[in-house]
Amino acid sequence: MLIKTASFVKSSVKLSQCPSPQLPEYAFIGRSNVGKSSLINMLCNHAKLAKVSSTPGKTQEINHFIINNNWYLVDLPGYGYARVSRSAREKWGDFIEEYLKGRENLQYVFVLIDSRLEPQLIDIEFINHLGQLSIPFVIVFTKTDKQNAAQTQQNKALFEKTLYETWEELPPMFFTSAEKKTGKEEVLKFIGACNQQYRIEKKQA
Ligand code: GTP
Ligand code: MG
Repeated sequence: MLIKTASFVKSSVKLSQCPSPQLPEYAFIGRSNVGKSSLINMLCNHAKLAKVSSTPGKTQEINHFIINNNWYLVDLPGYGYARVSRSAREKWGDFIEEYLKGRENLQYVFVLIDSRLEPQLIDIEFINHLGQLSIPFVIVFTKTDKQNAAQTQQNKALFEKTLYETWEELPPMFFTSAEKKTGKEEVLKFIGACNQQYRIEKKQA
């Protein structure tokens, strides 16, 4: 799939503020600083669409972007940012939970994982939580330019091993670098196929 147009729609802090749920939607989530906003910009060929920062906790709201006037890409605030208070962390949980449970047009959550790290408990817990909520997700390993391919594969294997402790089947996995612009075609092809499926199901409904 080609991205011809991509533009910011709005920032929301509640489900009720989100744009009308008439188009298929894909949300990017993961630890603060994992590269969610950078990946959105890379996929859209647009350096400044989503705000990027080397300071964790940059994205604080649910940001909707409309792509090709046809589907939504959503940049969510990161989890696991150590320097926020307990009450702020709980608020994050409530607000994201409301979105994840209530957003009827949400097709897939893209869980971003730093490819340089061994499995992190917070990521595994978040993935298991998505499972409890029956929310479909895929995994994206980010920042693959920061080490060699063998190290990325080693962390992927460890991640799979950890997931197999609780999951029978594993979701699709993607490998990306916003820096080197790799992994773009694979991610967009996946979303394109999901959009097609969405429209077939809509027609049948
Ligand atoms: P929050 O909004 O704070 O949750 O962060 P985020 O997940 O949106 O991360 P963001 O895209 O802002 O990137 C965080 C930092 O990582 C920035 O300094 C980016 O330039 C850097 N970064 C993101 N992706 C990549 C990548 O693929 N390769 C490299 N080398 N750096 C990256
Ligand atoms: Mg961000």
